[in-house]
Amino acid sequence: MDVLQFAPALTPAGAADLGRRLFGLDAEASALPSERDQNFVLQTAAGDRFVLKIANSTDDRTLLEAQNAALTHVARASTLCPRVIPTIDGHEIAEISPAPGIRHFVRLLTWLPGMPLGSLDEHPPELLASLGAAVAELDSALAGFDHPAIHRDFYWDLAKGLTIVRDHAPAIPDPSLRALVQELARRIDARDGPRFAGLRRAAAHNDPNDYNILVDLPPEGGNYRGSVRILDFGDIVHTYAIADLAIAVAYAILGKHNPLEAAVAVVRGYQQARPLDDDEIASLFGLVLLRLCTSVAVAARQQTQRPDDAYLGISQAPIARTLPILAALDFDAVESAFRQVRGKTPQETLAARRRVIGSNLSVAYREPVKIVRGWMQYLYDHAGRRYLDAYNNVPHVGHSHPRVVHAATEQMLVLNTNTRYLHDKLAMFAERLIATLPSLLRVCYFVNSGSEANELALRIARAHTRRRDVIVLDAAYHGNTTTLVDISPYKFNGPGGEGAPPWVHVLPIPDTYRGKYRADDPRAGEKYAEFARHVRNPGTFIAESAPSVGGQIILPDRYLASVYAIVRAAGGICVADEVQTAYGRMGTHFYAFEAQRVVPDIVVLGKPIGNGYPLGAVVTTPEIAASFDNGMEFFSTFGGSTVACAVGLAVLDVVEEERLQEHALEVGVALLDRLRPFVDRYPLVGDVRGSGLFLGVELVKDKDTREPAPAEASEVVNRMRDRGILLGTDGPFHNVIKIRPPMPFTREDGEHFARTLGETLAEISA
Ligand SMILES: Cc1ncc(COP(=O)(O)O)c(C=O)c1O
Repeated sequence: MDVLQFAPALTPAGAADLGRRLFGLDAEASALPSERDQNFVLQTAAGDRFVLKIANSTDDRTLLEAQNAALTHVARASTLCPRVIPTIDGHEIAEISPAPGIRHFVRLLTWLPGMPLGSLDEHPPELLASLGAAVAELDSALAGFDHPAIHRDFYWDLAKGLTIVRDHAPAIPDPSLRALVQELARRIDARDGPRFAGLRRAAAHNDPNDYNILVDLPPEGGNYRGSVRILDFGDIVHTYAIADLAIAVAYAILGKHNPLEAAVAVVRGYQQARPLDDDEIASLFGLVLLRLCTSVAVAARQQTQRPDDAYLGISQAPIARTLPILAALDFDAVESAFRQVRGKTPQETLAARRRVIGSNLSVAYREPVKIVRGWMQYLYDHAGRRYLDAYNNVPHVGHSHPRVVHAATEQMLVLNTNTRYLHDKLAMFAERLIATLPSLLRVCYFVNSGSEANELALRIARAHTRRRDVIVLDAAYHGNTTTLVDISPYKFNGPGGEGAPPWVHVLPIPDTYRGKYRADDPRAGEKYAEFARHVRNPGTFIAESAPSVGGQIILPDRYLASVYAIVRAAGGICVADEVQTAYGRMGTHFYAFEAQRVVPDIVVLGKPIGNGYPLGAVVTTPEIAASFDNGMEFFSTFGGSTVACAVGLAVLDVVEEERLQEHALEVGVALLDRLRPFVDRYPLVGDVRGSGLFLGVELVKDKDTREPAPAEASEVVNRMRDRGILLGTDGPFHNVIKIRPPMPFTREDGEHFARTLGETLAEISA
């Protein structure tokens, strides 16, 4: 039977009409190339695009149902593949009958952007690694999927490959290619055949060839992460779990100058997201070859059926060229090349870490996560599972934001040196930074971390005031150096701590939920500030402008203004630690101190300003800077380096251009609205507070006594992790769930977050 006879033959106008009648779409149709089926792009006047798929009349409905079910299954975990759009009547498959006795099934899918991988002139290794990562993501998303129709006898099933090649290779017209295919099949059978039988099995897409892979080319200089999409589930089958990888490798290496290098790039991308087991690694190259041999054998069979179809021969040319190169490779050497790119399992990674890393370096979660990739507000684990990151504020503009990565890479390629040489970017970054701050603050110093910045701030403050004493807020954390541990109650009063040194004075946290003065006291801010009056000869007051480690606290009105006034009147100066809160996170303001209507004498910046690149800054007034310039040189080898400044500038560009402060306000307000009712809904939730994307949910055992519930908070965080959302706890009692996501976090992410947190709280309260 020649299936091409049964291909549908709609005109674009007919396709547009179908789109209107079946799916209610007012759209123009244009045909996509397809042999046995027909596919049309439907584009609406608003620019929305869909793909209308009209199946060959020989197609089996249950297989189309299986394809749709697979697409829907994948769409739950990934945006790699199209989604199914039902008809106006709610059917995922419609039927048309263009002539008596002829019937075609019709489906509508979302359209995906990108160019076929096979149409690109070059496949750089990063693109091939992204292909590997995308195939891993697809396999992870398909995990658990099954359907009776995919347990089928199918000649593209690699598990049948040796039989197919044996049966059809004799029809290969070219004698040398025929001999090569037969010889390869014998070698594969002898080396790998027995092992194939024991390989893990799963539902596989089964055809990630280079025309079913779309690449949405990144802007020049951007990376390919997240740029690959996968189409066409027509060959879906239940087979070896590594079939998709083997097939993707098989097509990706065709025509390559160095096929092994290309294969390793794909396997690297795959394994970083989804490790292979030993047998899979050993079998992989055999399966890659088997796919290519199957393709030659199947084409030979088809050619005997359709001798005049030149297309069949053309598609074989690259295989015929590459097979001899592959056949010359040593199978064992290829296996060890694949093995070398294998990542460790999380357990192996943890064990290795325990052997060589200090044991007080903590690991989050009962079941630690092994993160191998980040993209904006998402993190991906070794198995390709996606997590919503609701916790990390360091990747402020998003994990691996291409603008920042690009800026760092470009600068690194040209020059990275220190501040003893002139370079425009140092002053440019300082000017840009100063422009975000009140005009009094206009002298910058750059260092490599929040700790270094606080340490420097303290030195500057002491040089100016010539006083040693420091006032801090209870439960504060300012960094990991000796002096900063001395001024961090969270550390010196915590496990292993030695208490406050005599020159450190601790004020109570102005916490209007559990502190002495509560939210119902309109003068709580001034009252908490009064504690500062008890400190004689204060030198430096240092506080986060919204205490984060202290429990995601929003300071009561007039708190900082009152403390600053008291401290300054007594001859001290005031430092705002904005390491956690800067750059629009609070939504209402660019810096948290602005919400308190104060201007600090020194501002300390860290985490977000480098988006993960180690970068800290101290900004102060010219007068204080002059006191610090007392003859002793200030120098930081890496602080203010050319790359650091390039990164700092790129981060500011993104914050401004993507209007992330406004975004944080909008998303934060919506999320707070969703979370606030939790106080009435769940017995565990004592308080919900915050501003922008700086939020806290405080858990208590009893709403009247407000007894903290740290074990429950930890349980919530662990269960949220299991549900794919990353969070942490904070506060002196470790009972405050902190929500501080990368700023690209969307309203939909917030919705998903609130729903999942609600389910988790309900489960724990039950
Ligand atoms: C408020 C605050 N200040 C300073 C630091 C220290 O920053 P780093 O870890 O970059 O040294 C931290 C770190 O968590 C912090 O939260």
